[in-house]
Amino acid sequence: MNLNNALPQHIAIIMDGNGRWAKQQGKKRTQGHKEGAKVVREITQWCASQKIPFLTLYAFSTENWKRPKMEIDYLMKLLEKYLKEERATYIKNNIRFRVIGDIDAFSTPLKNAIFELEHLTQNHTNLTQILALNYGSHNEIARTFLKLANSQAQRLSKLTAQEVIELINANLDTATLPNVDMLIRTGGEKRISNFLLWQASYAELFFTPTLWPDFTANELDSLLSEFSQRQRRFGGL
Ligand code: FPP
Repeated sequence: MNLNNALPQHIAIIMDGNGRWAKQQGKKRTQGHKEGAKVVREITQWCASQKIPFLTLYAFSTENWKRPKMEIDYLMKLLEKYLKEERATYIKNNIRFRVIGDIDAFSTPLKNAIFELEHLTQNHTNLTQILALNYGSHNEIARTFLKLANSQAQRLSKLTAQEVIELINANLDTATLPNVDMLIRTGGEKRISNFLLWQASYAELFFTPTLWPDFTANELDSLLSEFSQRQRRFGGL
C-alpha cells in the first residue's frame, strides 16, 4: 500500500451508477440507491481504519431535484434512515459527521437527523465524513457571496484579491476543511458535475467505470496506490 506521507488528506467521491447497476440486475432504480448506501458504510469505515482525515460524498445535488418525485422521496427517506441507524457506527469508530449544501429545503425529520448526528459527533477525532446534500458548487459560491455582501460590503472593495480568496475560503460550506486532494467519480462518466469546483482546483482526478454499488475498499486501495505515484506540483516545477 501507500507510504503514509502519500495518503490524501481529503478524498471526495461522486457516487455515480446506482441506477445503471439496478437496471443491470433487473431491479428498480431505488434498489440501486439502497445498495449504494451499503457501500457508503463500507467505504467510510475503511477510510476511518486507514486514518484518512476527510471524506466527502456527493449524495444529493442541487440538480437532482429534476428526478421523479418518487425517486427523490426514496432518497430522502433512505438518508434519514441511514443517519439514524448508523449512529452506533459513528460512535464506535470515532467518526465526525458534517453536511455541506443548502439543507433548508429538506423535511424537518431529515434536518433533525442531520443536526442530531452533527451534534453527537462534533468532538470525534478520527475521520470526518462530509455528506454533500442539496449541494452544488455554483449554489455554494453564490450563497457565500450573498453572505459576504450582506455582512461586509463596505470592507470588500478595500481588500486585495488574495484577501478575498481567503475570505471566500473561510465562508464556504467547507470552511475549516482542507482542499480536496483526490476526486474520484465512479460510473464511467468523465465530468465533475458542479461538485467542489473551488475546493478541487488542484485535486488529482480519478474516473473508474465501476458502478457505485460495485465499488469496494479494495478498489479504493488501488486508487490510493495510484495517487501515491502521481507528482503534485501545484503549479510549481
Ligand atoms: C447517482 O447515481 C447517485 C445519486 C444521485 C444518489 C447517491 C446516493 C447514494 C449513494 C445512497 C444514499 C446515500 C447515503 C449517504 C445513505 P445515479 O442514480 O445517477 O445512477 P445512474 O447514472 O446509473 O442513473
